[in-house]
Amino acid sequence: MNKIAILTSGGDAPGMNACIRAAVRYAIYNEMTIYGINRGYNGLINKELTLMDRRSVSDIIDRGGTILRTARCPEFNTLDGQKKAAEVLRSFGIEGLLVLGGDGSLRGARDLTENFGVPTVGVPCTIDNDLGYTDFTIGFDTAVNTALNAINNLRDTMSSHERVCIIEVMGRECGDIALMAGLGGGAEVILIPEIGFDVDKVVGTLERGVKGGKTSGIIVLAEGVGKADDIGAQIKAKTKISIRTTVLGHIQRGGSPTYADRVLAAKLGVKAVEVLKKMKSGCKAVGIKKNAIFEAELNGALSEKRELDEYVYNVAQVLSL
Ligand code: ADP
Ligand code: F6P
Repeated sequence: MNKIAILTSGGDAPGMNACIRAAVRYAIYNEMTIYGINRGYNGLINKELTLMDRRSVSDIIDRGGTILRTARCPEFNTLDGQKKAAEVLRSFGIEGLLVLGGDGSLRGARDLTENFGVPTVGVPCTIDNDLGYTDFTIGFDTAVNTALNAINNLRDTMSSHERVCIIEVMGRECGDIALMAGLGGGAEVILIPEIGFDVDKVVGTLERGVKGGKTSGIIVLAEGVGKADDIGAQIKAKTKISIRTTVLGHIQRGGSPTYADRVLAAKLGVKAVEVLKKMKSGCKAVGIKKNAIFEAELNGALSEKRELDEYVYNVAQVLSL
């Protein structure tokens, strides 16, 4: 395969740019032609394609967001939308597509292959870390560090006032951002969708903390459990402890990627090009497991459920007492 294209889709993630850079430069190193598609599947349908060269990806390794822009594209969920996309690729003579995105974007890549025969490779890019087939997605490490900095700041003011803070973090139905930021930030309580919310248990933990001499408390709440204000209201109804809430929001989606995300982006970007180059048909995914980069069938990869790391969850519980 000699002519390929790359797009970013769904929620942006820090490290997408580093991955675009890696894929573009590795494709050119392999004497391939590579197009950048603007605005995800939307841009593909609307023929927003530009030829990339080494300089198109200069000075982006340290930038959050995505220079290709991203979008959510309801039209691509339909057969008609996918057909249009496949026709655009064929009209440019493009033989295969790299899709950088989360679960939804990778399902889109799978559909484009299965319904219209376009070879695709999915690269896991989302802050949520909610793809079961890979240990890490690009963007997760940066988002956790952003949440961790917020927890550090909150701890200063909470301990000065002897308060408890609920900090709501993103992650959709996955609790990984909350879990890792919670363990790293010494949170008293970590609320994740994989476990659920028991108000009496949370109040018990907070009051035991006060009796044991704690001067502050941090509750890290994954958005998949509920809204900070609702959860906060339920806790406030059962205790006299002073409680504040913070919703971290889209701050988690931006920022310069960490070293871990940049290195992962370089490795996965290169691997994805390597895999696509030798493909004639089908759809694949690239990922990392036990620190080794691998390729897998995309369909099988998407059916793997993300499991909670119970060991980490238990350690966090024990250490916060
Ligand atoms: P993410 O990739 O971050 O999980 P979304 O779930 O919003 O983001 O998906 C991004 C885009 O991928 C959607 O707007 C749509 O264009 C496409 N997509 C999502 N799910 C599917 C699907 N099952 N079939 C085809 N395309 C899909
Ligand atoms: O999938 C990434 C993510 O940031 C989720 O954590 C969050 O629920 C969602 O996207 C927010 O989406 P939007 O950018 O549409 O507000």
